[in-house]
Amino acid sequence: MLSLEEAKKDIENKGYLDIKLDSGIDYVKEILQLKKDKNAVILAHYYQEDAIQKIADFVGDSLALAQKAVSVDADIIVFAGVHFMAETAKILNPNKKVVLPDLKAGCSLADSCPPVEFAKFRAEHPDHVVVTYINCSAEIKALSDVVCTSSNALKIINSIPKDTPIIFAPDKNLGAYLIEETGRDMLLWDGACMVHEAFSMDKMIELYKNNQDADIIAHPESEAHILKMAKYVGSTAGLLNYVKNSDKNKFIVATEAGILYKMQLDNPGKELIPAPAKDDNTCACSECFYMKMNTMKKLYLCMKHELPEIIVGEELREKALKPIARMLELS
Ligand code: 13P
Ligand code: SF4
Repeated sequence: MLSLEEAKKDIENKGYLDIKLDSGIDYVKEILQLKKDKNAVILAHYYQEDAIQKIADFVGDSLALAQKAVSVDADIIVFAGVHFMAETAKILNPNKKVVLPDLKAGCSLADSCPPVEFAKFRAEHPDHVVVTYINCSAEIKALSDVVCTSSNALKIINSIPKDTPIIFAPDKNLGAYLIEETGRDMLLWDGACMVHEAFSMDKMIELYKNNQDADIIAHPESEAHILKMAKYVGSTAGLLNYVKNSDKNKFIVATEAGILYKMQLDNPGKELIPAPAKDDNTCACSECFYMKMNTMKKLYLCMKHELPEIIVGEELREKALKPIARMLELS
């Protein structure tokens, strides 16, 4: 086994994933032990693979995870999600160590909003309040007045006086949905999530023709034509609650397929059909390549070596904290 110093060197020299492991390792047992030994807490998003959701201390949507990150009493936060989520946890917890199983677990939506271009866009509209979806980098948050998630976006928009113009970034689909729901005229950044834009309307119509007893439910990062077909639109937590509280027995679910693990656990007797993606892939659904970069092996390695660690410079952290804190106050 490598010592921490050896592991760090190994990472610098060869890259994180090249660390050799003993074969036959029991990841569940080892992770549980590391959690205890290091006073670590594992926070996971609903899009993580089933085994990670099973072993996590807390599983939630983006808002619940940010709220949880403020209240956990642990020395290390192990964030089983994507980079912007772990970064948000670090911004909220400068004195805690925050680690992410794979540093390359990014987000197409966050990537669609580069800070230099966004700063220019914002400067062109100085009278606008800037609302940003939490799926963005710390640099974008630092250029924002208030952050939101899919759970609280309507509430956040409605908290802004009606005569105040709004920039909404980076998700144009969520932005268009909010315009429709609130009647506000917002300037939208042209970003999107590749997972939620992958659903095929033609295949969805075909699927619904054969399952007319199902409710279509969708995440608001999906395109407008998918949202128009949906009986209910909501965040991952919203979708889970909807299925749990509904009298229906069948649902076509338009969001990342990882949600089906918890949904099926909550509703053993109900039939859950993942919404079909445009391109045929292994699961005939839509999976987030970034979310699925985290594995039990990487979770184990990251807890063992406390790497890769999320680091945010103090000046940037303070600027990015303000709009996040504003969101938490309003939620
Ligand atoms: P929520 O967790 O707010 O539902 O967002 C889903 C998502 O795409 C996270 O990356
Ligand atoms: Fe980003 Fe979309 Fe993946 Fe969420 S599902 S992490 S928004 S790419």
